[in-house]
Amino acid sequence: MNTEVYDLKTQYEEGMEAAKNALCRGELVIFPTETVYGLGADAKNEQAVAKIYAVKGRPSNNPLIAHIWDFQQIEQIADQISPLAMKLMRAFWPGPFTVVLHSKGVLPKSVSGGLNTIAVRMPSDIYAREMLRRSGKIVVAPSANLSGSPSTTTAQQCLDDFQGKVPIILDGGVCSVGLESTVCQITDDIPVILRPGGITAEMIEEQAGIVKISHAVLHGVAPGENAPSPGMMYKHYAPKAKVRIIEGNREAIANVVKSMYDKEDKDGKKPCIFCSAERVVVYKNRRIYSLGATPEDAAKVLFTALREADKQGIDSIYFEGVEHEGIGLAIANRIIRAAGFDVVNADKEVEVEKHIACMHG
Ligand code: TXA
Ligand code: MG
Repeated sequence: MNTEVYDLKTQYEEGMEAAKNALCRGELVIFPTETVYGLGADAKNEQAVAKIYAVKGRPSNNPLIAHIWDFQQIEQIADQISPLAMKLMRAFWPGPFTVVLHSKGVLPKSVSGGLNTIAVRMPSDIYAREMLRRSGKIVVAPSANLSGSPSTTTAQQCLDDFQGKVPIILDGGVCSVGLESTVCQITDDIPVILRPGGITAEMIEEQAGIVKISHAVLHGVAPGENAPSPGMMYKHYAPKAKVRIIEGNREAIANVVKSMYDKEDKDGKKPCIFCSAERVVVYKNRRIYSLGATPEDAAKVLFTALREADKQGIDSIYFEGVEHEGIGLAIANRIIRAAGFDVVNADKEVEVEKHIACMHG
């Protein structure tokens, strides 16, 4: 299959028409959103939906998000929408906010992976909105990455994963948020964050008065435990490198990271440190990927950094722990999965080292 890439800055009309026609024919289209790129298909076309799972290599019990551009479309697919759900949708749409609601059961079963709820999102990206409007379709779309790899935030990354497998990629430039949308279940009185994202827990709490964060967000799902969101069960966003998160006070983190890094470097391995711009100086003369000045910057480049590390054959990534406030919770959620929940507490490590030094002294 030939993959056609349309640069929407210069090929807007051609790209939009090609996407519309492809969606109407039951083909897949990769399109930009403000969060990450999506791998879209006509939600009502069962065969088209099946192509998403096949091309992505996605487990069939991991449900998809339905993308809409107009409020009226929600009535077609969701049921028993509470005033609270309405309030939150009105506050955060269009934007990086996905609501899980009771399903009307009108879409193919494969969309919801057998659940009786449906995830719906109204993206704010102008290209995504125009594609949805023009096609007249509700478009189901997971992130446009091969299952298990980091999500994509540029058209080139989509091409890296799907060249020859998807007919159309709309290139809308770099995604502005860089992490997938907040997934929030609102089927009860209290909204529950199943996946943190650009619409933060603090923002939801301000609107709803209260918000719950699913335990699985930072701790995963134990074997045999029921996952509130099937996506939580999978090791996600995994680069080939071994990822380790180092938490604790700044000084302890630096000591632990340097000693682990230097040991690996001496052994001929290729370690790399992911840290904020202000911390680059702490690790000078080592391989560093600066995640920028703010947590928002870090969110935007995180997946690119993970993909770059793979391209450069990095063996291990040391990631400085981040505050869990605001978008920091979303960063922590992604990186902890990439790390397979391997978190090193630097304060404790330093204690142990002191203890050993005492014993030997
Ligand atoms: O920002 C985004 O949300 C991107 C763009 C393309 O819109 N999409 C995205 O889709 O991240 P995906 O499939 O990679 O992640 C959707 C997540 C999965 O973890 C899935 O398990 C969860 O949403 N999900 C979908 N439907 C659900 C439901 N009915 N109940 C609970 N979780 C659901
Ligand atoms: Mg995904």
